[in-house]
Amino acid sequence: MTVVITGVAGFIGSHLARRLLDTTAEDVIGVDCFTDYYDPALKRSNLGGLVGDPRFRFESLDLARDGADLVAGASCVYHLAGQPGVRMSWGAGFADYVRNNIVATQRLLEAMRGAPGRIVFASSSSVYGDADRYPTPEDSIPRPSSPYGVTKLCSEQLVMAYARSFGLDARCVRYFTVYGPRQRPDMAFSRFIAAARRGEPIELYGDGEQSRDFTYVSDAVDATIRAGTVPDAGARIFNVGGGSRATVLDVLRVLGEILGKPLDVRRLPLQAGDVRDTGADLSRAREILGWRPRVALADGLRAQV
Ligand code: UGA
Repeated sequence: MTVVITGVAGFIGSHLARRLLDTTAEDVIGVDCFTDYYDPALKRSNLGGLVGDPRFRFESLDLARDGADLVAGASCVYHLAGQPGVRMSWGAGFADYVRNNIVATQRLLEAMRGAPGRIVFASSSSVYGDADRYPTPEDSIPRPSSPYGVTKLCSEQLVMAYARSFGLDARCVRYFTVYGPRQRPDMAFSRFIAAARRGEPIELYGDGEQSRDFTYVSDAVDATIRAGTVPDAGARIFNVGGGSRATVLDVLRVLGEILGKPLDVRRLPLQAGDVRDTGADLSRAREILGWRPRVALADGLRAQV
């Protein structure tokens, strides 16, 4: 059997590929087009642990433009490719979000129409915006606060429309701020660690009391594979959160302890698009996927450092 991972050179995609090669008998076809949202050299190095594996094949494909015939024979397509980042999605950059999140997903879904394979779509907690309740269950009314969140919600809805109209076997996973080794360089923990290492001030947006349900990457990978393998889930959306919320100030305290030195923190204004809090209700993932997060923040942060 063959599975396809789109966005395989990215942070979560590269971990997912490694885990599937290590723990299943599946062949893995990895797809990526090395967009320049961050340094493509980092993405090439993410692939380093995969190329050379006899069960791994890499395809350079831009899903918004190129044919994706290879998905036709796949038992499961893990669709992680996309334009990430909440704060960059305003202004002229929005066109990239429409292209790489919405158009690419629609083209992939067309390619999968009528095929027996299943899709697991990588969505985001950013679809909730400032949620109406915490912890937030999947059926809360989504009200994204950023254009990025709007494109993720739109892509999710496309996936569900293809599921309803063509019987596509579809699952969406809403990741909550994933961190760990190889985390994207624009995300908070990567930026904090890099600044501390260089002896530069850490840039803190707002008062630091905003909270996230930070999720360690191995937990996110585990939930993703369960979503791709659990039988008869129906077309479903699953929250994938780390299980304990922390404020950004909590994170900085733990990071200071791990690094063993006081951190130089510079306060900047709140950034447009950032929500105040995220918090996942994990009941559905627990019941249907038999999944729960295992890695505590201090342990995961130490591994990332
Ligand atoms: C992250 C990802 O970037 C999105 O792609 C993903 O969809 C989203 O998580 C999600 O899971 O929903 P975000 O929560 O903003 O978005 O993650 P970080 O960039 O790690 O930021 C976490 C917090 O740290 C935010 O409150 C942000 O304002 C703050 N931050 C970030 C800083 O104070 N300083 C920084 O330099 C960066």
